[in-house]
This record gives sequence, C-alpha cells and structure tokens, in this order.
Amino acid sequence: MKKLLLAGVLLAGAVFAADGKAIFQSKGCASCHQPNVDTVGPSLKKIAQAYGNDVDKLVKFLKGEAPAIVDPAKFAIMKAQLTMLKGLSDEELKALAEYMLSFK
Ligand code: HEC
Repeated sequence: MKKLLLAGVLLAGAVFAADGKAIFQSKGCASCHQPNVDTVGPSLKKIAQAYGNDVDKLVKFLKGEAPAIVDPAKFAIMKAQLTMLKGLSDEELKALAEYMLSFK
C-alpha cells in the first residue's frame, strides 16, 4: 500500500511538474527573446551567459527583487513584462528560470 501511494505521488509530480518552456511561450516572452539573436530583448543565450547557473538570482529578477544585469538601460521595457509573471508559484518561476538558463 505504501509503495502504491509513493508511486502515485511520484507520478503526480511528473505530470504536474512546472514546464518552463510552456510558461515562456504562453506568457509571450518568446516574442522579444529569441534563442540566439538579440531582437527587442537580448537573446536567451546572452541572458543564460550573464546568469550562469544562478537560478535563484534569475528567479529574484523575475520577481522584481533584483536589478537587471544584462541590459539595464532597456529595463523599462522588461519591467512592464514582469507583471505577466505575477501569480506564478516559486516552482513555476524556477522552472522558467531553468529553461532560460539552458540556452548557454
Ligand atoms: C516587449 C518585449 C519583451 C517581452 C515581451 C519580454 N521581454 Fe524580457 N527583456 C526585454 C528587454 C528590452 C530586456 C533588456 C532589459 C533588461 O536587461 O532588463 C529584457 C531582459 C530580460 C531578462 C534579463 C534581465 C537582466 O538581468 O537584465 C530576462 C531574464 C527576461 N527579459 C525575461 C523575460 C521573460 C521571462 C519574459 C516573459 C514573461 C520576457 N522577458 C518578456 C524585452 C522583453
């Protein structure tokens, strides 16, 4: 019985694990952030290189708790986008950050 319960919990975890790519696309981030070329916003590669593997630091930026480090002069444009992320759980923001940092 215990084993069955554990399997159920693991399965639920897999099904409901936050999908960073889906969040990135559904929140409209992809319209300004391309994988390799700078468009309106810096490329995902440039962002990933600036943050390295520091998921926590990127989550802080996404929450509006840390300053821009990639292109601070254009932060006003990005700041308006952060409202799109209000209401996401810490787990979802982490998945989103991990997805973005996978473009190094
Ligand atoms: C209207 C265009 C636009 C959209 C849409 C957009 N961004 Fe940006 N983003 C920018 C610009 C311009 C910058 C450069 C300013 C800066 O570095 O903050 C930027 C920078 C960033 C950075 C680098 C932050 C740093 O430290 O400098 C991250 C991370 C980021 N965007 C994530 C996102 C996410 C996640 C979304 C979707 C919710 C998103 N962006 C949607 C324009 C956009």
